[in-house]
Amino acid sequence: SDFRELPARLLAWFDRHARVLPWRAPIGVARDPYRVWLAEIMLQQTTVPHAAPYFQAFTQRWPRVEDLAAAPEEDVMRAWAGLGYYARARNLLKCAREVAARGGFPGTSAGLRELPGIGPYTAGAIAAIAFGERSAAVDGNVDRVFARLMALKGEWAEEKKRLAAEVARLVPDERPGDFAEALMDLGATICTPAAPNCMICPLTDMCAARAEGAPERYPVKPPK
Ligand code: ADE
Repeated sequence: SDFRELPARLLAWFDRHARVLPWRAPIGVARDPYRVWLAEIMLQQTTVPHAAPYFQAFTQRWPRVEDLAAAPEEDVMRAWAGLGYYARARNLLKCAREVAARGGFPGTSAGLRELPGIGPYTAGAIAAIAFGERSAAVDGNVDRVFARLMALKGEWAEEKKRLAAEVARLVPDERPGDFAEALMDLGATICTPAAPNCMICPLTDMCAARAEGAPERYPVKPPK
């Protein structure tokens, strides 16, 4: 299938329909790596509506990574209460202290991956969103969107590799972070798990699962 028009189509849709979220800035405005990192860590384990008030509380109390780095662990743990996975809160503080000590966040996904609590997905997301690196951020939502676009029917572990390679190819040189967040928004608001709204999807004419008539059947995963 031909996804040549996909990046431009997706970005044009994002320009009109991007969700307004506390860790975002108007399109074209530079993003603070600390705020991008904090949001991505919180969103690893919880939904956008649940994370939003925690993000507001953390950034009001600790506006810069140096402020968070200087906080006593018990204060951070108490502020994290309700987000769950307390090992992540401990890693959060460890990461903030490493970043403050080295004078800022590494500016590449490879550098970010060295930090506590930052895996390949989170590193790709931060590098694209905060530093404009042409990196992909493939999470479960992006898996679902591309499983549908490509109508992937094979063994899921193999298909996931194929779709990740396809996403990596499609990341545009310009606006890689907007491309990543546009895929997140498309997956969250239109290409949803049970009831995708193909009628308003900007990619509907490129979608192989839509052409087959039952996009909600994808992704096809092995029974657990
Ligand atoms: N989920 C993970 N990262 C996100 C982001 N930057 N915006 C919206 N949803 C997300």
